[in-house]
Amino acid sequence: MSEGHSTYTPKTGIERWFDARMPLPRMVYDSFIAYPVPRNLNYAWTFGGILAIMLVAQILTGIVLAMHYTADTNLAFNSVEKIMRDVNSGWLLRYLHSNGASFFFVAVYIHIFRGLYYGSYKAPRELLWILGCIIYLLMMATGFMGYVLPWGQMSFWGATVITGFFSAIPLVGDWIQQLLLGGFAVDNPTLNRFFALHYLLPFMIAGVVVLHVWALHVVGQSNPTGIEVKSKTDTVAFTPYATIKDAFGMIVFLFFFAYFVFYLPNFLGHPDNYTVANPLKTPAHIVPEWYFLPFYAILRAITFNIGPINSKLGGVLCMFGAIVMLFLVPWLDTSKVRSAVYRPWYKLFFWLFAADAVLLGWLGSQPAEGSFVFMAQMATLFYFAFFLVVLPVLGLIETPRRLPNSITEAVLEKNKGAGGGHPAGANAAPETKG
Ligand code: HEM
Repeated sequence: MSEGHSTYTPKTGIERWFDARMPLPRMVYDSFIAYPVPRNLNYAWTFGGILAIMLVAQILTGIVLAMHYTADTNLAFNSVEKIMRDVNSGWLLRYLHSNGASFFFVAVYIHIFRGLYYGSYKAPRELLWILGCIIYLLMMATGFMGYVLPWGQMSFWGATVITGFFSAIPLVGDWIQQLLLGGFAVDNPTLNRFFALHYLLPFMIAGVVVLHVWALHVVGQSNPTGIEVKSKTDTVAFTPYATIKDAFGMIVFLFFFAYFVFYLPNFLGHPDNYTVANPLKTPAHIVPEWYFLPFYAILRAITFNIGPINSKLGGVLCMFGAIVMLFLVPWLDTSKVRSAVYRPWYKLFFWLFAADAVLLGWLGSQPAEGSFVFMAQMATLFYFAFFLVVLPVLGLIETPRRLPNSITEAVLEKNKGAGGGHPAGANAAPETKG
């Protein structure tokens, strides 16, 4: 997976044997040991690794949960209660998995916002970004279907609302909705297909992650300056530098995760989901999981018809359009400078956009009435304006700050201010490649 020529030399007989037949140790060495990474990566760059361990944790806990879970509308709710009370450490498995989903999304949002801040999506990393967006879509589908499995009130009504969106699509909408449901309403066939897909999708995510990391190793990592690696002194070897930093980032992240699992295990869930699904009783407020709330707010903000498009279809189009914007970012941003560090105006708009996303999330959790609707409409307008106006226009009119000539120069300038400073290349491990 590494670019350039390999510096791996097999030392033992077994390594030589493998290398001649299937050079897996060579690939691991080139990709995770000698692989050159920019010397100035900050902790925002540890989230890719954090995501990888969260994906593995979700798959492992999910497989064990599936051994005790029953995908039948008469048994699902009780089988989850049995996991919580009777299965050895079942409560732990379930809390790890349900909070794990939330923390997976925390990590992916930090990872995406890092990409937006430092312009990581710009050429030549467009495909890497698109693969990330595909992972994000698959994560959303997986999270949504997983939430239906405990067959609580929110499971049932959330599934009813979300599958209902599809019926707004002209011509094929009803057909898609029935295909998703396996009938005309959320019922046993729905639960069964959601379980099957919820089990399958994480493995598809794992497959796309392999492509994502492959694409990353072809183009190399970007860095906080956004300046490409120019010489050997700009990089350090992945091991030990990035491995130690990633490990530290993971440990800190896992502490937060453990705090929720052990002290606030139901904080991110909804109390209504501890009541068994009842198709005859609609809850007062149907709210999706927190990680969908900004999109839910956008959906409900469209309360008016737009020409021939009625408000329901308009809401659905805006909601999907909000995700499409992410796919288009590499082409919407016209700036030649990648990183917000050197773009004062972009930095300001980036933080406004981040605040807007949080505001939309909060509005998604509020009832769609009164001033909340107006606020959601304004926040939706800003969301789209950020992508369709700010990104293209700012790139053309903004005067960026002076860029350092190289990563090394940026590091040395920063260290000078801090009273430190190393001679150029002091950190560059001998085995790194330029
Ligand atoms: C399961 C989910 C994901 C995993 C396991 C994953 C993994 C990784 C890893 C290991 C890296 C290198 C380390 C780092 O830069 O943090 C990386 C970089 C990157 N990822 Fe992801 N990723 C995931 C989702 C996403 C998503 C959803 C996006 C965007 C929509 C994305 C966009 C990027 C970009 C642009 C880079 C390059 C960053 C740079 O070098 O500046 N990734 N990813």
